[in-house]
Amino acid sequence: MQRLAPALREDNVPLDLISLIKTILAATKEISFRVSQAQLGDIMGSTSDENIQGEVQKKLDVVANDLFKDILLESGFVKAISSEEEDTSVAGEKDGKYLVSFDPLDGSSNIDINSLIGTIFSIHEAPSDMDASDPDMFKQAGHKQVCAGYVLYGPSTMLVMTTGRGTHFYVLDRTHGGYILVERNVQVPVDTQEFAINMSNQRFWQPAMQNYIGDLLAGDTGPRGKNFNMRWIAAMVGDIHRVLCRGGIFTYPTDSKNAKQPYKLRLMYEANPMAFLLEQAGALAMTSEGRIMDIEPTDIHQRVEVIMGSKNEVEACLSYYK
Ligand code: F6P
Ligand code: MN
Repeated sequence: MQRLAPALREDNVPLDLISLIKTILAATKEISFRVSQAQLGDIMGSTSDENIQGEVQKKLDVVANDLFKDILLESGFVKAISSEEEDTSVAGEKDGKYLVSFDPLDGSSNIDINSLIGTIFSIHEAPSDMDASDPDMFKQAGHKQVCAGYVLYGPSTMLVMTTGRGTHFYVLDRTHGGYILVERNVQVPVDTQEFAINMSNQRFWQPAMQNYIGDLLAGDTGPRGKNFNMRWIAAMVGDIHRVLCRGGIFTYPTDSKNAKQPYKLRLMYEANPMAFLLEQAGALAMTSEGRIMDIEPTDIHQRVEVIMGSKNEVEACLSYYK
């Protein structure tokens, strides 16, 4: 088993990117410890604030965000950061080479029930000719990411990361405090009998998704001719991790629950990094109109329809939109 830095060097990842990754991971080790302290640390429950998206901030959202923000801005590698918990981008080092977008704590509703949560991050190169305080630097498509990953604070703390040379799994070894490579070049099975969707939104979906899920539910008596099982962790990191481990389809489709907000998940720090990880593992990451990583962003907090996972199942789902 290999430690993280030698594994990245073997993949010819540039040294300054390795240093940035190690900086990000230092923050995740601290968060992992804080999460494990639960009621013994001051991390449970909500603050009295809302983020720019109108969501109540949990104490741990704020703790995790502040840890990332401070460590990244002090590192010298980062020109600016953008976070789910920050209204706009925050400037770092003017000559910094990288931009980091992150969801410091994904699956916030799971914090207080001791269930799966994680941190998602995405790294782009910073344009050298733009000001560090200009949020437009972040308007780069997902296919330009140089690294993406998440850390899952589960029964074990796991890092799943790609730098464009496959998707690899690492486990945090608490005996010496480092991430150890445990699986190289993860491959998502192309076929599956497992789907993940929030069924409570069913009546708000478009007809195509209604029909697709209806056919999955019909099982071996319906047109698909096989039975499907359903899983919903309510944390995208957890659901995508399961898809990377054993296949599946994960979707948060367009819905009409709130006319002003037809999509739930955010492009820059949820959909794009997961899309990069999945594509590097042979899976698909789409909207009903095309590839997620080809979307040219217009806003750092923009939301997007998400249909991702096992290749043949994503294609089966998309065929209902044709
Ligand atoms: O960050 C948004 C998020 O928490 C995702 O991690 C998760 O997939 C989804 O929202 C859960 O939403 P719902 O409330 O519909 O279960
Ligand atoms: Mn999230």
